[in-house]
Amino acid sequence: MINFDKIIDRSNRGARKIDYPLSLGESIDTIKMWIADMDFETAPCVKDALKDLIDYGVFGYTDFDNKYFDSVINWFHKRYNFEVKRDEIVRTPGVIFALAMAVKAFSKKNESVLIFNPEYVAFREVTYLNERNIIESNFKLENNKYYIDYDDVEKKIKENNVKILMFCSPFNPCGRVWDKEELIKLAKICVDNNVIIVSDEIHMDFVWGENKHIIFLDALKDNKELYEKAKKLTIINTSASKTFNLAGLQVANTIVKDTALKEKIESEIGKTGYHRISQPAQVALMAAYTEEGYSWVCELKEYIYNNILFVKDYIKKNIPKINVIETEGTYLMWLDFRGYGLNDDELQKKLINEAKVHLDNGLKFGSLGNGFMRMNIATSRKNIEQALIRIKDIFK
Ligand SMILES: Cc1ncc(COP(=O)(O)O)c(C=O)c1O
Repeated sequence: MINFDKIIDRSNRGARKIDYPLSLGESIDTIKMWIADMDFETAPCVKDALKDLIDYGVFGYTDFDNKYFDSVINWFHKRYNFEVKRDEIVRTPGVIFALAMAVKAFSKKNESVLIFNPEYVAFREVTYLNERNIIESNFKLENNKYYIDYDDVEKKIKENNVKILMFCSPFNPCGRVWDKEELIKLAKICVDNNVIIVSDEIHMDFVWGENKHIIFLDALKDNKELYEKAKKLTIINTSASKTFNLAGLQVANTIVKDTALKEKIESEIGKTGYHRISQPAQVALMAAYTEEGYSWVCELKEYIYNNILFVKDYIKKNIPKINVIETEGTYLMWLDFRGYGLNDDELQKKLINEAKVHLDNGLKFGSLGNGFMRMNIATSRKNIEQALIRIKDIFK
């Protein structure tokens, strides 16, 4: 049994979640529940593999080609029944890097990229920083869940000659896990309009209850014609970094089933001078994507799921003016504070300065995030309980 209740002091270790707000003058007592990493240690098998590497002590250029790719292939086969071949995998130092490479490979300056609103913040950043035109489609919030407005997506794609659609599945920050029909509908629009689909599935291992993560192309497999067409347009971004808390090691895998598409991405990566992911990152991934790693993930998920239930229950009983958007996936909870009538800035200041709880402000994720906060609950139950008590007290 892993003790996820164990509190680990992450201060003075360069942890962005802790040390960055401190550098801006935030109090050490503020409970930090922003940015998407976990306060837990990684799996023991990953720690052991890294210790072994340190003992070995030679850190020269390293490529574990077969072993590395087999680990990835086996993980997707066993966990998702999704078949991947070695030559369909592109290793990168991170999903954001891969997203930026896709933007550069499949669009030119001033061409349009469609993102959703609200949406994971880096989608907007990599599009903007690469001088592409950002086109937004608003999600519809109905019955406490977010839905794609397909008519709007199609209209915007046509009107703006959109080249790329960036999609987050499961959906950070709003917690949706997309079902098969939803993915098929989106794929059809992209296929009909020849739009590249960049599907960011970094949170895929965290889905709750009856929900099931469906890898984008897998949703289409019963419709051979659609599958074959979509395959020529789809880039799937995956990583062990959320699941095993490895973001500091920098390792991700992009899956591209179409050879021409893959060559374009690789050529773009080649131009950056980036050669290979680090040796510790490779070692960690191979240790993570094992049966031992999977057993740890199962325990972790149980703990996190209970955190979600705890937050929902506590808020319902004690701070009912906050509306908890349904968390179907991810360890990020999307809380609707609009009932308090505060703007984004006022809300964040109140939470940080008065409650001493640091959440991610909703506006970061797009204009429709105004009045919302994202709470990272991949932390000890004690931390969560403390944070909720503090929030309850300031809104009394
Ligand atoms: C949807 C999504 N994509 C990508 C990332 C970052 O990935 P990486 O650290 O591999 O660049 C995050 C981290 O929060 C995320 O939530």
